Amino acid sequence: MEEHNRSHVTRRALLTSALGGAAALTATAVPSRWAIGQARALKVGLMLPYSGTYAKLGENITYAIEMLFAEKGGALGGRPIELVKLDDESKPEAAQQNAERLVKRDNVDVLIGTVHSGVQMGIHKVVRESGTLTIVANAGNNEITRSLCARNVFRTSFSNWQPSYSMGLALAKKGVKKAAFVTWDYTAGQEMGAAFKEGLEKGGAQLTQLLTLNFPDTNFQPILAQLPSLDVDAVGAFFAGGGAIQFVKEYAAAQIKAPLCGPGFLTEGTLEAQGAAAAGIETALHYGDGLDNAKNVAFLKAFKEKAGREADVYAVHGYDAAQLLAIGVEAVAGNIDDEAKLYAAMRGAKIDSPRGPISISASQNVVQNIYLRRVEGGKNKVVGIVAEALSDPGGGCKLA
Ligand code: PHB
Repeated sequence: MEEHNRSHVTRRALLTSALGGAAALTATAVPSRWAIGQARALKVGLMLPYSGTYAKLGENITYAIEMLFAEKGGALGGRPIELVKLDDESKPEAAQQNAERLVKRDNVDVLIGTVHSGVQMGIHKVVRESGTLTIVANAGNNEITRSLCARNVFRTSFSNWQPSYSMGLALAKKGVKKAAFVTWDYTAGQEMGAAFKEGLEKGGAQLTQLLTLNFPDTNFQPILAQLPSLDVDAVGAFFAGGGAIQFVKEYAAAQIKAPLCGPGFLTEGTLEAQGAAAAGIETALHYGDGLDNAKNVAFLKAFKEKAGREADVYAVHGYDAAQLLAIGVEAVAGNIDDEAKLYAAMRGAKIDSPRGPISISASQNVVQNIYLRRVEGGKNKVVGIVAEALSDPGGGCKLA
């Protein structure tokens, strides 16, 4: 730890002296060894899954981050962007060590992470200590922006509570009285199950069963075999990526009567592979197909050109993580050691996202609309709004 603190301080001291105290990063303020027309690069670490069940999620986040940086001419606040990518494989047991590699060995200035809530917790332990500016581009673990909130950590994706609570509430409003929830047994699944239950209860309905299997197992048959005898009006589920593709197909094949629903990850970036099995599934999420705001139209086109495939909610998370970073770094003209100004700009950000307008809450989680979607014609068609400008209710965050 001590060694790390020293290296952070050294980096900081270097930059401050190089900038002549609080001076902006202009050609005159840059010392001669950088001045050859070049400001020092802003090193941005991407710690994301590029293999395993969440690989496509990590790839889409990355494509969209690269897209925003390219739109900015490859530089923010006068500093060229240098990316350092690390495949975290969605393995929580390696997360802390991986985050330390980026922060201590590669000396990244900014860390953008990750998809898996358990891995994000490992990153969080490291960056709370080091003070590295961090933007969470997917993982929803509630506590990151509740009791464990930190000044240097922002989230542009969602809290696990936001879409899942909304789904439970929407179901109850539709007249569902009893529902079950199926998920992987790790932080994200547990928190989404609890939020789904809370939403159901808020609307006068009940969660009667919670069925789980280990992450990232896909041995769904023992669970599917139990569902027909449960006497529920609906089944909610949280799976994502490769696991979601398989679960939705097997659920359809099992011909279970209760309709399948859930937080919208179940049908995001997966519809082509799920095919007819996904038809009619209703989900709640902060994004959907057919949102025809100008930003989304341009985003979908540019993403398709870059990635050769359709954008999804994960691409939106990545794009907005980079948009938020740009707002901060541009506000301090590249001098990210001016933390007061950097964080103030990021906290006050009003972002034009492909999902609609978003802002940042007092605990530095995203505030956003939650849409109700239905799978029709191979799309997650937006059919309503469950909540406008929904903020995570989380308490326990005290930011100095
Ligand atoms: C999470 O682990 O927080 C997580 C992973 C994938 C998702 C959503 C949440 O699609």
